[in-house]
Amino acid sequence: MKKRGFDKKRLPKRSANLGDMDFGTRMKRVIACFCVLLTAPGLAACGKGAQVPQPEPSAALQTTLELPTEIPDDDTLDTSNMKKQSTILVAYFSASGTTEKIAQYAADILEADIYEIVPETPYTQEDLDYNNSSSRANREQSDPSARPAISGEVGDMQNYDTVFLAYPIWHGQAPRIISTFLESYDFSGKTIVPFCTSHSSGIGSSDTNLHSLCPDTAAWRPGERFPAGTTKESVKEWIDNLDISAENTVGSFDFETKTVLLNSGYEMPIMGLGTYSLSDEECARSVSALLEAGGRLIDTAYMYHNEAAVGKAIRESGVPRDEIFVITKLYPNQFANAAEAIDEALQRMGLTYIDLMLLHHPGENDVHAYKAMEQAAADGKIRSAGLSNWYVEELTEFLPQVTVTPALVQNEIHPYYQENDVIPFIQDLGIVVQGWYPLGGRGHTSELLGDETISEIAAAHDVSSAQVILRWNLQKGVGVIPGSGNPEHIRENLDLFGFSLSEEEMERMNALDRGEKHDWY
Ligand SMILES: NC(=O)c1ccc[n+]([C@@H]2O[C@H](COP(=O)([O-])OP(=O)(O)OC[C@H]3O[C@@H](n4cnc5c(N)ncnc54)[C@H](OP(=O)(O)O)[C@@H]3O)[C@@H](O)[C@H]2O)c1
Ligand SMILES: Cc1cc2nc3c(=O)[nH]c(=O)nc-3n(C[C@H](O)[C@H](O)[C@H](O)COP(=O)(O)O)c2cc1C
Repeated sequence: MKKRGFDKKRLPKRSANLGDMDFGTRMKRVIACFCVLLTAPGLAACGKGAQVPQPEPSAALQTTLELPTEIPDDDTLDTSNMKKQSTILVAYFSASGTTEKIAQYAADILEADIYEIVPETPYTQEDLDYNNSSSRANREQSDPSARPAISGEVGDMQNYDTVFLAYPIWHGQAPRIISTFLESYDFSGKTIVPFCTSHSSGIGSSDTNLHSLCPDTAAWRPGERFPAGTTKESVKEWIDNLDISAENTVGSFDFETKTVLLNSGYEMPIMGLGTYSLSDEECARSVSALLEAGGRLIDTAYMYHNEAAVGKAIRESGVPRDEIFVITKLYPNQFANAAEAIDEALQRMGLTYIDLMLLHHPGENDVHAYKAMEQAAADGKIRSAGLSNWYVEELTEFLPQVTVTPALVQNEIHPYYQENDVIPFIQDLGIVVQGWYPLGGRGHTSELLGDETISEIAAAHDVSSAQVILRWNLQKGVGVIPGSGNPEHIRENLDLFGFSLSEEEMERMNALDRGEKHDWY
């Protein structure tokens, strides 16, 4: 699967702009950072992993282990450092506050993140004296190679599709620090919307002169100039006419393309195939059937012992690798040596990269293992990192200990175990939710597929109960990976877009929740 809008293959390293704070009295804000706190309580406490690979634990285990699903009271839950990521960034440089004000208006209107370009050496009044030909600002403007250093950085530029770039006009041009900014990041495929403030000059060539600093694939919009005292309404009018919105934001399901944009910048199909319990031969047949039928998402795991079969079927399918999205998982007994385990997974699968790697469930060394996935993403071995069987408490403890926000959490979700409180909690963090056991899991499917309400809704749409359940998940923004060794079922499970459930039908499905977990973690 391709990365939306640009081709950079690295996961975002989240780091707040920690640049100096004494540039006037203004505060810098890098809002996009929701997981950089380095001090945090201990590891997730539940579900420590077994020492050897084993099948998905049986339902019999469920009564002996405590379920990690309780949601803490609001006042014990600190989510202050967690915020949904926007795909629009407003980046600005402002020496005396005029541009800052308008940049803030723009960020408010766009619901965008905002980033201040702060000079490493702040400009003094003297530096800004435009009547003095040897003042710092004037010297910089007359030297095309001047690149004033910036304090701090945008830690997650990969996540932004659109960057509004604001600056004051200095002698008809953008201050040289804007050149430093543009040369500090990869703007391939991004849309850049420049705007400026000035005393009286127009934007002139100040914006077009910046184009050569970015790759050709950056899409520049015509710039706009605002005088001091511009109202928020005027800024809004300009933005409305640009027709730029945060559409296709991280996490929202696109029913046309049948994909969702992950916070890592990669697109993932919203439905695919689960391979738990499929033997090598059955697994390879199922993957082939899925790919032939147009499905592009496959979920496997070290613990399923069929990664090699998945890889082989992919390699032999004739479908271009970058059209396929492969998920695999590290089991807790691999966490201590996660870096080696990632390399081994690549070898077993015979693939040069894995689209998404998850930690199978919380366990000893899970933070260490996640950091190994972060490194593997930086090295191009995996594209996105995520978690499985992490709930509210586990996430609340885990996220502050890692740098890169997980792209996805995969948890048990089906009509009898709906996770209605957990799903929005995860989604609000900009993390995509995917459900395992969508049909209840083996041993429970006949109960779910035969459920009276589900069967009635299925009959009304002339589809199967399985399709109703899968569609219900998608309409809740939950991705699905039904397991199947039956090519007919595989085709049926991909055919979810010729009908939709009404609000009333969704409510009837929601009312089936029994909090009935079909596996222990
Ligand atoms: N992260 C985790 O901890 C975790 C845990 C469990 C599972 N998973 C993942 O989630 C996937 C889904 O779970 P699962 O496969 O165990 O359970 P599931 O998808 O809920 O159910 C699979 C069962 O449903 C049947 N089925 C599939 N499509 C059907 C259809 N259209 N009509 C009738 N029956 C149908 C399959 O039979 P046929 O083979 O005959 O089609 C199979 O018996 C797994 O394969 C695995 O990839 C992850
Ligand atoms: C060094 C310098 C050069 C400037 N050159 C121009 C100019 O060529 N044309 C103009 O209209 N304003 C010029 N100005 C005024 C600024 O563009 C204007 O005051 C701007 O709104 C300041 O934005 P800020 O408060 O965000 O720094 C200049 C200001 C400085 C400090």
